[in-house]
Amino acid sequence: MCGIMGYAGPRAAAPLLLEGLRRLEYRGYDSAGIAVTNGEIHVRKAEGKIDRLAALLESDPIEGSIGIGHTRWATHGAPSDLNAHPHTDPSGEFVVVHNGIIENYLSLRERLETRGHEFTSETDTEILAHLVAEEYDGDLVAAVRRAVGRAEGAYALVVMTMHEPGKIVAVRRISPLVVGLGDGETFLASDIPAVLEHTRDFLIVEDGELVIVTKDGASIEAIDGGPIDREVLHIEWDAEQAEKGGFDHFMLKEIHEQPVVVTETLAGRLDEDGHAWLEDVEFDDYFASSLDHIWITACGTAYHAGLVGKEIFQRVLRIPTSVEYAHEMRYADPLVRPGSLTVAISQSGETADTLAAARLAKTRGSRLLALTNVVGSTLSRDADDILYTRAGPEIAVASTKAYLAMLIAEYLLALRIGRARGIVDEALAARVAHGLNLLPEHVDAALGQDASVIAAAERIVDADDIYFIGRGLDHAVAMEGSLKLKEVSYLHSEAMPAGELKHGTLALVTAGTPVITVITQGAVYDKTISAVQEVKARGGDVIAVAYEDDREIAKHADMVLRIPRADDLLGPVTAAVPLQLLAYHVARLRGHDIDQPRNLAKSVTVE
Ligand code: F6R
Repeated sequence: MCGIMGYAGPRAAAPLLLEGLRRLEYRGYDSAGIAVTNGEIHVRKAEGKIDRLAALLESDPIEGSIGIGHTRWATHGAPSDLNAHPHTDPSGEFVVVHNGIIENYLSLRERLETRGHEFTSETDTEILAHLVAEEYDGDLVAAVRRAVGRAEGAYALVVMTMHEPGKIVAVRRISPLVVGLGDGETFLASDIPAVLEHTRDFLIVEDGELVIVTKDGASIEAIDGGPIDREVLHIEWDAEQAEKGGFDHFMLKEIHEQPVVVTETLAGRLDEDGHAWLEDVEFDDYFASSLDHIWITACGTAYHAGLVGKEIFQRVLRIPTSVEYAHEMRYADPLVRPGSLTVAISQSGETADTLAAARLAKTRGSRLLALTNVVGSTLSRDADDILYTRAGPEIAVASTKAYLAMLIAEYLLALRIGRARGIVDEALAARVAHGLNLLPEHVDAALGQDASVIAAAERIVDADDIYFIGRGLDHAVAMEGSLKLKEVSYLHSEAMPAGELKHGTLALVTAGTPVITVITQGAVYDKTISAVQEVKARGGDVIAVAYEDDREIAKHADMVLRIPRADDLLGPVTAAVPLQLLAYHVARLRGHDIDQPRNLAKSVTVE
C-alpha cells in the first residue's frame, strides 16, 4: 500500500521526507518521490528503492521547508519513473500524492482530455492534479473540496500549490492519514511510524475529513465543510509496534485489514445491478459466451482460492472448471484447448510453478487471465487479461488478506462472464452484488468474535492432529483453514470433504480429537450434520463455524464460532476469517514466530 509523508516547519524538508518514507518501507513499494515548494514546486521521483531517490536528491538537491512525499505500490500503471508520485498539473503549479483508488478515473480522464488536457502518466493520481488546478480560483481548500467532489473511490489525497506556500491540504476517504504535531513543525503521514521519531502527539484524520497543515499545526474540517474538534492522541508504542499498527504481528494486522481490502477490491467494479467492470479484463462478450472450459491453476493458498472459484464457476456459470496445482499441471500434459480460459492465481505473480503452468496453457491456445495482487508482476505481463486484487502488500508469510481478495475477484469474474452468457439473470446478479457489498461489514463482525476464537484456540492448542471438514464451498474454505493452521502453529492438520471422513479418516478420530466443521451451505446442511454426528459418536471435539442464527448446530457441536448470516454463495468468504484468527491464536499460544514461520518463504520463485 502506498505511503504518504508531508512536512511543514523550519527544517529542510527533503531529508525529513526521505527519512519518513524509509520508515514506511515496510508497507511495500515500487517507486518513491518527493515534492518541495520554495516559490516553485520541485519534484524528484524514481522507480525502485528509496536509495535511488536519495541518489537523485544528492546529485540534484531541493531546498525548502515544506513538502510532500510518497512511496507507490502500483495500482493503475506499472512501476516506472513517470508513474511514480508526486504528480503535477501541466503548469507545475499544483502537486499531489495519493494513496488508494479513484474509481471513476477513466471517465474523468476522458472528460479532461476532451477539454485538451494531456497526461504524462498512466495513473489515476495525475487526474487529481489536473482537477485541483482546474477548480482553483485562489482558494486551495475550496479547490480540493470541489475536485474530490468529482472523484469517487477510497483514497487519501495530499495537495500543495505554489500559490499558497506554507500550506498542505489533505483529504481522507477510507485510506489512512495522520497528522504529527511537533514543536513549531507539523507532519502528515499515512501511518504513525513515519513520524514517531519526531513526535508522539497525533491527530487522526477520519474518513470524510479534510485537513489543513501548516508549520503551526493542523485544522480538521468535514469534507463538506464545518470545523471538527479532534483530541490529540498520545502514542506510547515503540517503532516496531507502530509498523504493525499496534497489532502484535503483521498477520493479525493483515487479517484486520480485510474489510478495507474487500471494499477496495470491489471499488468501482460493481454496480448494484450486478454489472461488473473489470478494467484489465479485455475479452469480449463473444469470448465469454463461447468459452467451454475454465482452468484454474495456482499453488498453496492461491490454489485454495481456486477451489472456491471452481465451485462458483460451476455452480453459477455451469461451465466445466478444473482446478490444478500448478506444479502438477505443468508436467501433466493437461487437455487444455483453444476456446478455454485459464485463470492463473498468484498473490505475488512470481511463483515459478504458476508461471510455468500458465505459459503452458497459453501455448495450448487457452486465453490467460492473471489474478494477482502485484501490478506489473511477471504473471500479469504474460497474461491476456489481468484481474488485480487490491490487498496491498502482504508482509506476513501466511497469506490472509490476499486470499480474501482473490475470492472477491472470482465473484466479480463470475458476474462478468455470467452476464455476458445470459446465465446470470438480473435477480441473481443483484443478489450477488448486494451480498458482496455487505461483506466488509460481515468480515468486520467476524473479526469482532475474537474472544470465542481465543477460547477455541485454547481448546486445540495441545492436540496432535486436527481435522477440518465441510462440503462444497465449505470444503474449499476448510482446506485453507487447515493450511493456515499448519503454517503458523506447526500442528498437524488435514482437511477433507465432510462425506469423506467415514471412508477412512474416521479411524483416527478418538476422544477429544478436534474436528473443525464449516457449515454454511443450506443445500447440504443435514449431510454435514451427519458427519458431525459420526465424529461425536467417537468422542471427537467439534468446533463449528456457522451462521449466527443457526440454532441447530449448537445441539451437535461442542463449540460454535459465529459469522453473520449471508447468501450461501458468499458465506464462505466470512467463514475464512475465524479460521485465520484460529491459526493465529494457536500459533501465539505456542509462542511461534508468526510472521516468519520456519521453512517457509513468502514468494516461491524456484521450482
Ligand atoms: C500460504 C501461502 C502460500 C502461497 C503460495 C503461492 O499462506 O502464502 O501457500 O499461497 O506459495 O504464492 P502466490 O500466491 O504468490 O503464487
